[in-house]
Amino acid sequence: MSSSIKNVIVVGASGAVGRPVVTALLEAGFQVTALTRDSSNATFPKSVKVVKTDYSRESLDQAFQDQHAVVSTIAGSGVGTQITLIDAAVAAGVKVFIPSEYGLDTQPANAPEVIPLIAHKITAVNHLRSFKDKISWTVLVTGALFDWNFDFPGFGGWNLPARTAVIWDGGDVPFEATNLPQTGKAVAAILKNPESTKDQYVYINSFTTTQNEVLKELESATGDKFKVETASTEETWKNGQAKVAKGGEGLMEGIIATIHAGYYGKGDLNNYSKKGLWNDKLGLPKETLAATVKEIVASHK
Ligand SMILES: NC(=O)c1ccc[n+]([C@@H]2O[C@H](COP(=O)([O-])OP(=O)(O)OC[C@H]3O[C@@H](n4cnc5c(N)ncnc54)[C@H](OP(=O)(O)O)[C@@H]3O)[C@@H](O)[C@H]2O)c1
Repeated sequence: MSSSIKNVIVVGASGAVGRPVVTALLEAGFQVTALTRDSSNATFPKSVKVVKTDYSRESLDQAFQDQHAVVSTIAGSGVGTQITLIDAAVAAGVKVFIPSEYGLDTQPANAPEVIPLIAHKITAVNHLRSFKDKISWTVLVTGALFDWNFDFPGFGGWNLPARTAVIWDGGDVPFEATNLPQTGKAVAAILKNPESTKDQYVYINSFTTTQNEVLKELESATGDKFKVETASTEETWKNGQAKVAKGGEGLMEGIIATIHAGYYGKGDLNNYSKKGLWNDKLGLPKETLAATVKEIVASHK
C-alpha cells in the first residue's frame, strides 16, 4: 500500500536525531520542511523547506498547514512544548504525529519513576491519545542511541578519547542499542506504513548487546586496553534521583545518572527485544556491533 503521507515537517530538524531523520525522509521521497526556532542558526540540505517559528500557536498553525505528518525531534529540554505542537497539528488536520522519544521504553508504568524526564514524554502521548480519530501517533522506541553516546565522552560510560569505561552491574546485562541513521530510517518507514504503525509503540534496535561486548570491540578496534571503573545501577540511580530532587547545578548530572541506570537495566526499560522487534516489518537493514564500533573509532580518530 502506498503511503498517504507526502509532506512531512520535522521539529528540531537540526538536532542529533533530527538530521538523520531528515536524511532518511529525503531518501524515501518525502517533501520535507524543517521547523526551526527564530533564534536558531541551523542550516539544512537545499531540498528542505525551512520555516521559522516562535512556537506560538499562531505561528505553528501557519507552519502545519498542508502538512500530512509532524515528526518531533525536539530536544529533551523542549519536550514540554509538544502539547502546543500537538494542538496545532490537530487544528491543521495533520494525519500523523511522531513525538520526540527515541529512547527507553516509556510504556511501562514504572518508566517515569526510573527516569524523571520521561514524565513529559508520557504527557505528550496521553495528549495525542485524547485526540483519537483526529490524529494518529507512533512512538519510536530505540533504547540507547549508541553512536550518539560517543559524541559526548563519558556518556553511556564510554570515554573513547581517554580510553576509559564505566561498567555497570558486571557488564553482562543485555541492552538495546540503535544508531542514529537506523533511527532515521525507522521514522521514514513508519510514515511509509501509517496504517500498520498507527497509535502504537514501535520497538527497533541496531543490535542487542552488553557493556562487556562493547568494551571488547572497543579494545579490539583501538588496539588499546581501556581503564575500567565499576558501578551499580541501583547506586547510580539513587544518586541521580537525589540530584534531580535537589535541582540547581546538579540537575543535568542527576538526569544523566538516571538515564545510565535505565540504559543498563534499572526498571527493565531497555531490553524489549525479548518481546519482539519491528525491524523486519519496517525493512530496516541489519547492523552489527563490531562494524558499528569500527566505524565509530575510525570517525573519532
Ligand atoms: N536514547 C538516547 O540515548 C537519546 C540520546 C539523545 C537524545 N535522545 C532523545 O531524542 C530526542 C531529540 O534529542 P536530540 O539530542 O536530537 O536533541 P538536540 O540535538 O539537543 O536538539 C534538537 C533540536 O531541538 C531544537 N531545540 C533545542 N532546544 C530547544 C528548546 N528548548 N525548545 C525548542 N526547541 C529546541 C533545536 O532546533 P532548532 O535550533 O532548529 O530550533 C535543536 O537542534 C529527545 O527526545 C531526546 O530525549 C535520546
